[in-house]
Amino acid sequence: MTVNVLFAAKESDWPEYEAALSSALTSAGVKFHLQNTQTTGFTPAETDYMVWAPNGPVQDFTPYTRCKAILSLWAGVERVINNPTLTQPLCRMVDQGLEEGMVEWVTGHAMRHHLGMDAQILGQNGIWKPHTPPLARNRRVTVLGLGALGSACAQMLRRVGFDVAGWSRRPKEIEGITCFSGEDGLQDALKRSEILVLLLPNTSQTENVINADTLALMPKGAFIINPGRGPLIDDEALLSALDSGQVAHATLDVFRVEPLPGTHPYWTHPGVTVTPHMAADTRTDSAAQVVAENIRRGENGEDFLYLADRSTGY
Ligand code: NDP
Ligand code: OXD
Repeated sequence: MTVNVLFAAKESDWPEYEAALSSALTSAGVKFHLQNTQTTGFTPAETDYMVWAPNGPVQDFTPYTRCKAILSLWAGVERVINNPTLTQPLCRMVDQGLEEGMVEWVTGHAMRHHLGMDAQILGQNGIWKPHTPPLARNRRVTVLGLGALGSACAQMLRRVGFDVAGWSRRPKEIEGITCFSGEDGLQDALKRSEILVLLLPNTSQTENVINADTLALMPKGAFIINPGRGPLIDDEALLSALDSGQVAHATLDVFRVEPLPGTHPYWTHPGVTVTPHMAADTRTDSAAQVVAENIRRGENGEDFLYLADRSTGY
């Protein structure tokens, strides 16, 4: 049987994805018609699978009555999971490229803060200032969120030598990582966070997890790295903590409003590095294989991979 696959992500990504999805679906042994939302071919009601992204053209899923799954190209699903028109199963993106990108970005920024690189790179003034940074094994790093991305980052930071802990909703065991979980575990996780990495999803449970009270639990002069989502942080509380020195520096990739408005104090605060939601990008080739595998599974009556859970919001 031939399945109708609709590409409903960013239009400018269509040429690259058309080629990658065609190749991946063929390799997966799926017979398909693939089109984007501009093409006249099969109708919304005849769509079997939708490759979707929040910055694409479809926000109302009502017409896609036969669609067996919405296959998101994004890992974070907060912009769609509570959409009242979404009745189809929703699969989020877990992709090797996304994981590698996030591991590299987080490790790079952790090393920058750990080694105090800014003082050398930005502070050259002709004065010879000897400085011995601690070794990674003497630096405590905590990753909030131990899912696909957080656990990969925690494990790489451990391999670099850091003393790593992580925090998740459910208890976990990861070799070499001290794992905390649940409400009670958060305090212990934060108390040892000299470098804190946020890789939680944006849900009603995680909003403002970093606030005045939780910031106060961290060691003075801690570093925060947030590639998770903007609403994880109470921005006012973080700015106060930066002003008081409780937090030495925050590297922020994600924000409540994106692009971050030009007038936002984060842009000019000396203790903040703003990056433009670029920590990790879904990579076309590996993502197309994940999508094709899910379509193959759907056609063979197997469970979908990476189903988002409406009850938890991620
Ligand atoms: P996962 O769903 O695999 O992992 C989420 C983790 O957060 C899990 O360990 C989960 O716990 C934990 N968690 C969720 N809710 C809570 C809670 N209330 N208390 C404690 N822990 C909680 O997601 P990914 O690792 O794939 O992605 C994480 C986030 O990264 C995405 O949601 C997205 O927001 C962001 N992201 C950012 C990108 C960027 O470029 N900046 C790129 C891609 C993703 P448990 O294991 O118990 O379920
Ligand atoms: C994602 C992201 O969720 O890019 O995939 O932030």
